[in-house]
Amino acid sequence: MESRRAIKTAIGKIILIGEHAVVYGEPSIAIPFPGVSIKTTICETIGPVILECYYYRGRLSDSPKAVLGLKKVIEGVTESFNEKLENFSIHIASTIPPARGMGSSAAVAISTIRALYEFFNRTLTENELLKWAHESEKVVHGSPSGIDAAVVGGERPLYYRKGMPFVPFKINLDAYLVVGDTGREGQTREAVEGVRQFIESKPDEGMELIKELGNLTRLARKSIEDKDAEKLGKAMFKAHIILDKLGVSNDKLNFLVSKALDCGALGAKLTGGGRGGCMIALADDRKKANYISQCLLSSGAKNTWINRLGDDLVGS
Ligand code: PMV
Repeated sequence: MESRRAIKTAIGKIILIGEHAVVYGEPSIAIPFPGVSIKTTICETIGPVILECYYYRGRLSDSPKAVLGLKKVIEGVTESFNEKLENFSIHIASTIPPARGMGSSAAVAISTIRALYEFFNRTLTENELLKWAHESEKVVHGSPSGIDAAVVGGERPLYYRKGMPFVPFKINLDAYLVVGDTGREGQTREAVEGVRQFIESKPDEGMELIKELGNLTRLARKSIEDKDAEKLGKAMFKAHIILDKLGVSNDKLNFLVSKALDCGALGAKLTGGGRGGCMIALADDRKKANYISQCLLSSGAKNTWINRLGDDLVGS
């Protein structure tokens, strides 16, 4: 008899604008990024649960800190089914670089939740998916706004406000997004804490900057609706300057952002938690995007990806 097996996937995400401000109730825009993905394979075995992923290979019960969010989800989901935590293995393959603001932690959790539901033959609702993904994100990020799980789980662009219903919205711009990886791990938890301390020590200035970020996200939304890539690019760069003032950028991100602008980007900024991770640049056509990508690579970016801000986006 053939042994049971379930295979599920999840794609990455990029925050276009509004990171950090989203933690304080301001809006943010995030898009699915199908250029990178996670695949979880669960196989029936005999014995303890074995986990195999980027950070760890071994018994689930001995997992290190780096995979505790995932462990919590695997245990929680299995227990919620009244199934025993044994006799299966979980293999996770990824093309999403970890800790780069491309949603790897949310995508790992989501592909694994999907695979567990399939393996145990249960029906998964979107609410359950997001609830479990949020559990994992809490372990990874502290008190996440929920945007990563929402966009990775929903696989559609979102205008997101913490605590409010998700607003999926169409992005069909004649423009391209270039993502550049600094090659350094981002530090979302530390960066979120850094912003909190900034606001605590300078409440007026801090909240003013957060509000400005919120207004730039509203402007970005309007620019997308008006199909005005130039205006979107300007809003992106202004957001980068504010994020830098809040202390969540670093030299390498600033360097790659300025290189992208020198090479003709309409705008550029860091994306995600910052202090490492990735930056994004907006290009008005594919040729420009290729050129910007080359500029970034020759300026020290470890990797780049290009995505059209339109048809390629799942659900748009
Ligand atoms: O680093 P990422 O891609 O997980 O993004 C974090 C986004 C923040 O706004 C900085 C934090 C949050 O929980 O929304």
